[in-house]
Amino acid sequence: MNPPTIDQTSSPSTMNPLYNPAEDEKEASLRPRYLSEFQGQQRIKDNLLIFIKAARDRGEALDHLFLMGPPGLGKTTLALVVASEMGVDFKPTSAPAIEKPKDLAGILTNLRPAGVLFIDEIHRLKPSIEEMLYIAMEDFELDWIIGQGPAARTVRIPIPPFTLVGATTKAGMVSAPLSSRFGISLRFDYYSPEELASVIRRSSNILDIKIKEDAIELLSGTSRGTPRIANRLLRRMRDFAQVRGEGIITRDIVEDGLERLEVDYLGLERLDREILKTIISKFGGGPVGAETLAVSVSESVESLEDYYEPYLIQIGMLARTPRGRVATPIAYRHLGMEKLDENGQFQF
Ligand SMILES: Nc1ncnc2c1ncn2[C@@H]1O[C@H](COP(=O)(O)OP(=O)(O)OP(=O)(O)O)[C@@H](O)[C@H]1O
Ligand SMILES: [Mg+2]
Repeated sequence: MNPPTIDQTSSPSTMNPLYNPAEDEKEASLRPRYLSEFQGQQRIKDNLLIFIKAARDRGEALDHLFLMGPPGLGKTTLALVVASEMGVDFKPTSAPAIEKPKDLAGILTNLRPAGVLFIDEIHRLKPSIEEMLYIAMEDFELDWIIGQGPAARTVRIPIPPFTLVGATTKAGMVSAPLSSRFGISLRFDYYSPEELASVIRRSSNILDIKIKEDAIELLSGTSRGTPRIANRLLRRMRDFAQVRGEGIITRDIVEDGLERLEVDYLGLERLDREILKTIISKFGGGPVGAETLAVSVSESVESLEDYYEPYLIQIGMLARTPRGRVATPIAYRHLGMEKLDENGQFQF
């Protein structure tokens, strides 16, 4: 059976600063189709392999799957991989695209048995759709209202068994009744440099890019733990190597390229540094509220919270406190900014 493909109806997070339709098309050739091609996230893969085998052996749909984690770590990719491994239909959509109950009914009644329905940004479902989904997930039935006014009545329509794969960057915003209906919940962690190195090696092979091992090492450490960024930086370095070098990505090309792209040795981008600098110089190191901070750096609260902050927190430069965001001593040090204590003395 041919592996399923992602059709045009899939709409990745519009608020996502990582999302760029033109780049996404180029990404398509790099997207792993099977678990054996999916790099890293070993714990997730080990568990999934067992659940998929068990479901296949029983001839059943895989249990509903909930995928959580920051943008670009492979949630959509894994949903596609699950459908390929199960050998079933893959229907991608996103919560904002499901406007009316009939939209959801249309999708569910058209899926072949055991097919995968992938709903991206599942925290953005409308309440009426969410309630319809509860019954569909639990009983493989749809509540359907026939007629109008006093004569209206609800009938239950059976639908083919399916697997819902729901993905979100905001796990905290998914309601408890919905999250509790997923039989399998997987949380994505940022990738280690070694895992990203294998993503870069795989992509270089597919795209026929020549790259030195020490260049891979540098790139994998500056990709924010994120495969999508690793692939994007790889493509940019290929451009630099082609135009400014001899077609081979060397460590020198990467060092020079990262500087041109304003990416530092920890993978921080200009805006990451801007966020930290703003907290330190405008708000005395914090705490400052997310909204105030977002306005100060001219970014949306969404991309601040979903994209920039999680990585800054992960590497220990930013802390979220009940009163707002705080820059940590590591951030001061990284930016070469000094912190004064109450007596006006430098702290380090
Ligand atoms: N484990 C992996 N191995 C190899 N490549 C990967 C892996 N995970 C992701 N990628 C690459 O990174 C790209 C981004 O992944 P994907 O679109 O699945 O992320 P996402 O978590 O769905 O992001 P978003 O939250 O923005 O929707 C993919 O196109 C794929 O090429
Ligand atoms: Mg996605």
